[in-house]
Amino acid sequence: MIRLTEKIEHRRAPSSTVLETEGLRRRFDKFVAVDSLDISVKQGEVFGLLGPNGAGKSTVIKMLTTLLPPSGGRAYLAGYDIARQPENVRKSIGYVPQALSADGSLTGYENLLIFAKLYNIASKRRQRCIQDVLAFMNLQDVQHRLVRTYSGGMIRKLEIAQSILHQPQVLFLDEPTVGLDPIARATVWQLVQQLREEFGTTIFLTTHFLEEADNLCDQVVIMNRGQVVVTGAPSDLKASLEKDNATLDDVFIHYTGDQLASGVSYRETARNRRTAERLG
Ligand SMILES: Nc1ncnc2c1ncn2[C@@H]1O[C@H](COP(=O)(O)OP(=O)(O)O)[C@@H](O)[C@H]1O
Ligand SMILES: [Mg+2]
Repeated sequence: MIRLTEKIEHRRAPSSTVLETEGLRRRFDKFVAVDSLDISVKQGEVFGLLGPNGAGKSTVIKMLTTLLPPSGGRAYLAGYDIARQPENVRKSIGYVPQALSADGSLTGYENLLIFAKLYNIASKRRQRCIQDVLAFMNLQDVQHRLVRTYSGGMIRKLEIAQSILHQPQVLFLDEPTVGLDPIARATVWQLVQQLREEFGTTIFLTTHFLEEADNLCDQVVIMNRGQVVVTGAPSDLKASLEKDNATLDDVFIHYTGDQLASGVSYRETARNRRTAERLG
């Protein structure tokens, strides 16, 4: 496991703000994908950016991970300005994109080795780091198998392992449970909780499964068509409806008047199928 001293490092200031945005915007030509986002995430929080497909969730993550320049507004991560200090931001974060990020033609171990080099982990520490994350993810026994023989859940775990090798302060997970069966999904959520509890990692995740985020997230922002619909702790949002057994879906419907599209979109299904084919 990762050394205790390093764990404590992340926990030093448990209530400090680790991520903040002010009027963050992104346009694609005239289309506003993200309109004036104001959020504040505290160290050690599990933060959920929720909303249906097309809401703008991935666009927000791409801006916060410095992969896409904002059209307006500002964002600070670990005290660094995402536009002016992108290198510092990148060192502070881990990112599991929505699309596949593990190579099916390599073993799990080989994939991790590539990421360890990418993150400049010193060669004498690499083996230790890799074996630590493999143990944490319970992937030790399959580390020398080709990733194309892994189940969807195992691939997701490997991708999370890749993204935490350098012990990031903030971990971004874009739709971590899309395409997974219910058991694999539950495993991913359990890992997220463990990451927060054991290492104090701040987790920033997106999902269109509102109910899944309910138990896990300290704070959620529900987005729709680029706009923030409502923000708060899930329990407060549900209580605000004054309805028995209210769900976050009810919250969404209440504040937008919109019905949530159930399940995944065709585009996403097609993407998942292609991924499955590629991995055999
Ligand atoms: N590179 C791009 N060019 C044009 N439009 C884009 C681009 N990326 C995203 N969009 C559009 O922005 C909107 C939000 O997309 P996205 O952030 O991927 O949503 P989500 O992740 O919530 O499903 C969608 O309507 C999408 O089609
Ligand atoms: Mg997305």
